[in-house]
Formats: sequence, structure tokens, C-alpha cells
Amino acid sequence: MSQFNKMKQKIAVFASGAGSNAQKIIDHFKTNEIAEVSLIACNKPGAGVLAIAEREQIEPILIEREQYKKDGYAAFLQEKGIGFVVLAGFLLKIPQPLIDAYPRKIVNIHPALLPNYGGKGMYGAFVHQAVIANQEKQSGITIHYVDEHYDHGDIIFQATCDIEPGDSPEQLARKIHLLEHAHFPAIIEQVIRQH
Ligand code: GRF
Repeated sequence: MSQFNKMKQKIAVFASGAGSNAQKIIDHFKTNEIAEVSLIACNKPGAGVLAIAEREQIEPILIEREQYKKDGYAAFLQEKGIGFVVLAGFLLKIPQPLIDAYPRKIVNIHPALLPNYGGKGMYGAFVHQAVIANQEKQSGITIHYVDEHYDHGDIIFQATCDIEPGDSPEQLARKIHLLEHAHFPAIIEQVIRQH
């Protein structure tokens, strides 16, 4: 193993769904000397992100609720040498033992401009429906450190998009996904480089 590999940060990506953000993050770090995605954790059997793990030959871990509630797999991640945790559409709250094991080393992306439109139950289409129902002129993405509350930790980065009159939640979702894919991998790299 080369000297570089020894220094590479190992990233664990936690996701519950399709994994389009996970794919962009994997791709970004394929040609990057400071970090690599070495584990994909998912709580939903059959989720698209697990197919991505298989195709990309990245170790998957199917999260089992009882074990997760105990320590959020903190001990498992540490045994695997994980140095950084990325939530990319992960719908479970992060238990305190995992927060404690990875202080300011867990980041999340939320498909709205926190502190608005965040919190329990605000995910996916529910977010975009609420934003449009409130006749907002803008929405966007928020990348933030994770603490023990949903969508609550210090904000690292935000980007905005305009909402045109008549935009449906699906149209807004597409605009948001474009922002996520454009920014999340680079912001993760920036945060890792700062440590
Ligand atoms: C994204 O919209 C992200 O903001 C939110 O969950 C969604 C994940 O989408 N946290 P995907 O599974 O990465 O396509």
C-alpha cells in the first residue's frame, strides 16, 4: 500500500434512498488523494444506494435498528478506520454515541434553506411541497454539521435556486438535486481538508 493510501481519510456514506448524492460523492473521491468512500450504510433493504455500493465494490452495511439505537454503529465505524461520516439522504436521527465518536466529522445535506423547512418529517417531497405552499420565491440546499437534533447543527454551506410561478414540487426537487450534486462533494472535501 502506498504512503498516500495510508493517509487517505475513509468516508462512510449513510443513505436511505436512491443514492444519487452518494454516487456523486463516490465519483468525486475516486480521483482524490485525501479521501475515499470505503463504506455505505443503509437502513432500507433494497434501496438504490445498496445497488450503487455493489456496482462500485464498496462495503455495504445494512443498519439494524436495535444495534443502531445503541451506538449508531460508532464502534463498527471505528474498527473500519472511518474518519468522516456523510449523511446523504439518511432518514434516521444520529444517536449521541455516534455524534460523540465523530465530533464535527459528520455532515448532512438538507434540501432547503435551514433553519427553515427542517426538522422531523421534513424530507424529500414534503420539504418542496411546504416551500411551494408557502409561496417562497427561493429555495436551496444546506450542508451542515450534525448534532443530536434533526437538521440543526452549524451551517457549513448554502446555495439557492429561484422558484418560478407554477413550479411543481417535482420541478423544484430537480433544481435542488442539481445544486446538491454540484456542491456536496466539493464541500465534503473542503471540510476534510480543514481537519
Ligand atoms: C436529497 O434531496 C438530500 O438533500 C436529502 O435526501 C435526498 C437524497 O437523495 N437529505 P439521493 O438519495 O441522494 O438521491
